Amino acid sequence: MSKSDSPSAHVDADQDFGKLEFAKHYQQQATTAPEHMDAFWMPFTANRQFKQHARMLASAAGMHYKTVDGREILDGTGGLWCCNAGHSRERIIEAVSQQIRTLDFAPTFQMGHPLPFVLAQRLAEIAPDPLKHVFFTNSGSESVDTALKIALAYHRVRGEGTRTRFIGREKGYHGVGFGGISVGGLVNNRKWFATQLPGVDHIRHTLDISRNAFNRGLPEHGVELAEDLERAVQLHDASTIAAVIIEPIAGSAGVVLPPVGYLQRMRDICNKHGILLIFDEVITGFGRVGKAFAAQRFGVTPDLITTAKGLTNGSVPMGAVFASRAIHDAFMHGTEGVIELFHGYTYSGHPVACAAAIATLDIYREENLFEKAIELGRYWEDAIHALKDLPNVIDIRNFGLIGAIEMASRPGAVGARAYDVFTRCFFDKDLLIRVTGDVIALSPPLILEKSHIDQIFGRIAEAIRETA
Ligand SMILES: Cc1ncc(COP(=O)(O)O)c(C=O)c1O
Repeated sequence: MSKSDSPSAHVDADQDFGKLEFAKHYQQQATTAPEHMDAFWMPFTANRQFKQHARMLASAAGMHYKTVDGREILDGTGGLWCCNAGHSRERIIEAVSQQIRTLDFAPTFQMGHPLPFVLAQRLAEIAPDPLKHVFFTNSGSESVDTALKIALAYHRVRGEGTRTRFIGREKGYHGVGFGGISVGGLVNNRKWFATQLPGVDHIRHTLDISRNAFNRGLPEHGVELAEDLERAVQLHDASTIAAVIIEPIAGSAGVVLPPVGYLQRMRDICNKHGILLIFDEVITGFGRVGKAFAAQRFGVTPDLITTAKGLTNGSVPMGAVFASRAIHDAFMHGTEGVIELFHGYTYSGHPVACAAAIATLDIYREENLFEKAIELGRYWEDAIHALKDLPNVIDIRNFGLIGAIEMASRPGAVGARAYDVFTRCFFDKDLLIRVTGDVIALSPPLILEKSHIDQIFGRIAEAIRETA
């Protein structure tokens, strides 16, 4: 055995490293020199453009990031719709550190450890009745693919194996797995990847600027779009349809809200035809709209809910699928020694992720963060709608602590106008926003105060004017 392979050599190396400050050590190594940036193939990023003028974050606390060059950036996006309790919360840090020292990994295939049981129980307490069973994943994409698979297997286990078709929606985003892109409705996420689930159909999205522009809260017009589902049933027959998947509020397509009455109508049509309704709450879950889940805020209960992001406050990758008792119990028949669902991930219920999630739920509860979006909702709404008359703004949408400012696209250059606002905000206004196409989408940490709301919209207004 060479010296470097011996267990004691590894321990020594670990101890040496412990003397260094981890973050500083790597930040000193990292530079924005092209040769140091080349290896990382960045996700959903214009790599060559980014690497010429990098936007690098080094640390974060509360409502702010700090850049590698020491600027404090106000976070208008909760990272990426993740950090609902704000950044670098001590309680989560402690829970994660203690957990990794105690039990770094344990399998959950035919083995167990206490944390996922505790976490699932805690999640069941805040989930709408009857969604009281929880399947753990590592991301929103995996949650979506898990929910689709549970839907298929549920029908099959009940003897309705002809129900194999999914209905998604235009502009829907359900992550990047093959299931998710198949039911998703964003053309760039689909057109490159020929192999998709067979038999998927899509209904229309609900964005209708011509009728609903600058509406506050839910759009008044568009409930009739839910009838698309009834038409899909007439076309395909209910006996072929397993489930419909929609985001109660679509985020990635630039914040598309459900018209008043729309979600309830979808629920009614699903009930009538025995179709499962899946709400993808990867961004709306964990307080974004003033309740634990959008299902509760809208008073419409689906059969499955997919989540991730806010589950651990973004600190450790984790997702969760909530299933109704009826779905779960349908599998709990037959010989007890047989695995009921042939699905799972090595890291389903990972101890460190569970610790992060439990600490996150503690913070949400103790600080009443799920109520923040209702408490601050009106102030947020007034502040965002005050930008109505700025140049090129063609629509403003809001619900809970979600906001969108849509701008007219420059001829032949979709996305360029909003990208200019984004870079102006980051480099000159010390504000992080998110843009998709020509929509500025906002989803700040729920710990924000009115003064942060003033800063967010004050700085965006300046950036819009200056880049007009
Ligand atoms: C509604 C929705 N579903 C699924 C996903 C995919 O989540 P992930 O990126 O964690 O796979 C996202 C990500 O933004 C999302 O917004």
